[in-house]
Amino acid sequence: MCIVKCVQRTLVAFILLAVTTSPSATQNTMISGSPLSSVTGTVTRVSAVVGGVAELPCDSRPPQRNDSLLLVVWYRDDNPVYSYDTRVEGPTAHWTDDAFAKRTLWQSSPHSALRVRDVQARDRATYRCRVDFQVSPTRNYLIALDVIELPSKPVIFDEYGKEISGIAGPYNEGGDFKLICSVNGGNPTPRVQWHQGDTILSTLSAGDLQPSGLTRSLTLVVRNASRVHQSSVYTCTADNTLLAPPQKVTVRVNLYLRPLTVEILSREQPLSVGRKTELLCRSTGARPPAIVTWWLKGKQLNSITKHRELDDGNETQSILQWTPLKEHNGQVLTCRAEHSKFNQSTIESKLPLNIYYVPVAVIHLGAKMNPNDIEEGDDVYFGCDVDANPPAYKVIWEHNGVLLQHNPAGGVILTGNTNLALRNVSRHQAGKYSCTASNVEGDGKSPPLHMQVVYKPICRKREIRMIGAALQEPSSVVCEVDAFPPPDTFEWTLNNSAGSIKVDPLRFTVEAYEGRSILSYTPVSDVDYGTLSCRATNLAGQQTSPCVYTLMPATRPDPPTNCTVYNLTDDSLDLMCLAGYEGGLQSVYIAEVWGNEGLVVNSSNAVASWNLRRLGAKRQLKLVIYAANARGRSEHVTFTVETAPRLSPRTEAQEAWEVNWAIGGVLGAALTVAIILCLALIATRIRHRSRDYEVTMPSSKNQKTTLPKRSSPHGPDERNPDLIPLSKGILDCQPEPPLYAAVAAAPKNSNSAHSLPRTQSPSTPTSPHAQYTDSQSDSGRSVVNGTMRSHREVVTTRTPLLAAHQESCV
Ligand SMILES: *[C@@H]1O[C@H](CO)[C@@H](O)[C@H](O)[C@H]1NC(C)=O
Ligand SMILES: *[C@@H]1O[C@H](CO)[C@@H](O)[C@H](O)[C@H]1NC(C)=O
Ligand SMILES: *[C@@H]1O[C@H](CO)[C@@H](O)[C@H](O)[C@H]1NC(C)=O
Ligand SMILES: *[C@@H]1O[C@H](CO)[C@@H](O)[C@H](O)[C@H]1NC(C)=O
Ligand SMILES: *[C@@H]1O[C@H](CO)[C@@H](O)[C@H](O)[C@H]1NC(C)=O
Ligand SMILES: *[C@@H]1O[C@H](CO)[C@@H](O)[C@H](O)[C@H]1NC(C)=O
Ligand SMILES: *[C@@H]1O[C@H](CO)[C@@H](O)[C@H](O)[C@H]1NC(C)=O
Ligand SMILES: *[C@@H]1O[C@H](CO)[C@@H](O)[C@H](O)[C@H]1NC(C)=O
Ligand SMILES: *[C@@H]1O[C@H](CO)[C@@H](O)[C@H](O)[C@H]1NC(C)=O
Repeated sequence: MCIVKCVQRTLVAFILLAVTTSPSATQNTMISGSPLSSVTGTVTRVSAVVGGVAELPCDSRPPQRNDSLLLVVWYRDDNPVYSYDTRVEGPTAHWTDDAFAKRTLWQSSPHSALRVRDVQARDRATYRCRVDFQVSPTRNYLIALDVIELPSKPVIFDEYGKEISGIAGPYNEGGDFKLICSVNGGNPTPRVQWHQGDTILSTLSAGDLQPSGLTRSLTLVVRNASRVHQSSVYTCTADNTLLAPPQKVTVRVNLYLRPLTVEILSREQPLSVGRKTELLCRSTGARPPAIVTWWLKGKQLNSITKHRELDDGNETQSILQWTPLKEHNGQVLTCRAEHSKFNQSTIESKLPLNIYYVPVAVIHLGAKMNPNDIEEGDDVYFGCDVDANPPAYKVIWEHNGVLLQHNPAGGVILTGNTNLALRNVSRHQAGKYSCTASNVEGDGKSPPLHMQVVYKPICRKREIRMIGAALQEPSSVVCEVDAFPPPDTFEWTLNNSAGSIKVDPLRFTVEAYEGRSILSYTPVSDVDYGTLSCRATNLAGQQTSPCVYTLMPATRPDPPTNCTVYNLTDDSLDLMCLAGYEGGLQSVYIAEVWGNEGLVVNSSNAVASWNLRRLGAKRQLKLVIYAANARGRSEHVTFTVETAPRLSPRTEAQEAWEVNWAIGGVLGAALTVAIILCLALIATRIRHRSRDYEVTMPSSKNQKTTLPKRSSPHGPDERNPDLIPLSKGILDCQPEPPLYAAVAAAPKNSNSAHSLPRTQSPSTPTSPHAQYTDSQSDSGRSVVNGTMRSHREVVTTRTPLLAAHQESCV
């Protein structure tokens, strides 16, 4: 095919050449050629690439059988450039001129031609080959050598004239880009083409004129570049001959791509206020990776971005760790993907937020209610505004922390969950009201609303009070009322045998805010005793029933009663009594503690309780209790107490040791007798023995519980625990000592504070209990009080020797 083309082109060229050059060629041959020679007609065209090889054909075969070649001469412009003489032997048969030098060689086989190596541009010319034969006439051939100069390798420039090698761009998606292919030189003028794969995109033909002489350039313009252009490869070729492959250069196009998709992946709703949640957003399609951001109400949230390379395209993930707030409910969370290289590349995914939160409740009074003017008997309405998601399923109401129940009969009406009506309110219904709304997120309690109910003053203490007032001595009478608002005025009235008179306001003070008035009253004579009444008035009106006080002549106080000792230790005790009538005057309460050597502590107090300290350990103490006021002293209350022994592990152990030895000595003798007795008993009462055993065993193991039981059967004989119980115990197998009471008998003459009554209690150091009686000789009343438990237990029952006895007794 190539050959056919060549021939065709050669023919066309020949025709053109023939038209233009034939006359001169003919002329030349006519002038300079040998008369014998003649041009055989045609001009043979031969093409060769610079540097390549050209074969200029010249038929040197003799036309007749009985003939032979004599001489071949090549002319260029009628100057001989090469000759071959068959008559000369050896290499000298060939001759060349300087221009052809050693590049040419005549060859006769396979077909005769002049072979030119390393063709030069200056070799372009029309050559004549003259062939001389022995016999036949000389022949001439015309051969035109067309030397082809290849174009340079194309160079690609961008639209700013910057050379591109390998990779073009990056260009913006949607934009245009230009690739300029520039080719230098080439003879004949090269053809320039842009290819993409096998497709020819554009061509600059050899015939297309270009202003800049030697350089030809062809521009490839791609408009509205899209994703398909990413990584596409464009090739620019330049060629001017088929003898050499085209010159070519390729570029790969790189594009910036907008993000294609963005999507919030985790759409689980609802979310909860305060619970940290993680949301994921994914964007694909962008190159380089998109910037993915989260937005809420125009504000950007902090997030973590990750890029992943996947087979089906790269993706960008953004993780939002975020704690929703209540006000975010109903707002729209936006995930935005954008590309810094594009102005309008932003795409968004939106998530309307459904956020659950604990209800927010606000309590308010009914619209037309004046909070400062609620009187007893009014109807009061409350409303509860609830802000909740999900909606509250219940609303409860509280008054001073107590749940309110729907009770129409009682005037409490709950309607529609968010309304509370109180019919005919009383002053007791004043106080703090709140409502609490609940949903799945929790309970929301409203701040309390303080409801005030206006009411007339009433006495804080209902009963009639007795006031003891001494003649000529001022007494204070305190009138205290409850009222809302606080009372403005007080009014005192004295009602006595002389009648009823109002007290001069100068005589009393008014502390309106405390609802208190204090009257300073001095009885001058007996007629000044009687009944005082006090009435207060506030906004709601005057007090209906007055506070009443009975004025009586002052006396000395009644004695304290019902005294109880607490917290008895080795050095102290706490004492508390009930105060009696104070005789109408301020009283002090005195506790005197007496030991054998005299007064130990003298403590006076405004109330009938004392903390008595520094008493000394394990002492028999007598307590003398009385009240005193300006009129004198009360009767005395007297009783005896023993402080606990000092708690010291070492001394206790020593004591135990000593006691054990003492007891052991006594026991030694008793034991011998007991064993004999026991043996005698065993011999005679085998059946009874087992029953005894069963009875006694528990007592030895848990003496604490059995103590009270034991004390009763022993009777008064067993007050001395040292010997009798033990010897009896051996016989009865019940070794524990009995309980006994320390009774402080009331002295006959209780008026004398210094005459100590004799105590009849035995002074036993191991006594675990102390009981006492206080008495009043006048009334004969006596109160017996609680017991005090010491820390020590009876040592003797712990003796191992004894335990052995008990068992051996069995
Ligand atoms: C042809 O060649 C032979 C020898 O090669 C010669 O004898 C003969 O004469 C020639 N004929 C002509 C017509 O020259
Ligand atoms: C650019 O190409 C995209 C598709 O690749 C097309 O949707 C868009 O309309 C084009 N724009 C213009 C201006 O031609
Ligand atoms: C994915 O990312 C890699 C590295 O950034 C890149 O070489 C590749 O071209 C990207 N693929 C696509 C489809 O964008
Ligand atoms: C983006 O917009 C700015 C001004 O609006 C403009 O100067 C810039 O060229 C634009 N960039 C692109 C990539 O369109
Ligand atoms: C309002 O309550 C009081 C007692 O608190 C009662 O005496 C009175 O009858 C009630 N009034 C009405 C109208 O129910
Ligand atoms: C005063 O006392 C008398 C009898 O004790 C009584 O009848 C009278 O109502 C009282 N007056 C006042 C104002 O309390
Ligand atoms: C004595 O006090 C005790 C305890 O404090 C108490 O239970 C008892 O009722 C009081 N006795 C009298 C007469 O007040
Ligand atoms: C007993 O002592 C305890 C602790 O010291 C104390 O709280 C309590 O009030 C005392 N009891 C009396 C009646 O003083
Ligand atoms: C104890 O003190 C009171 C006053 O505090 C006093 O009247 C009384 O005489 C004192 N008792 C003794 C025995 O001193």
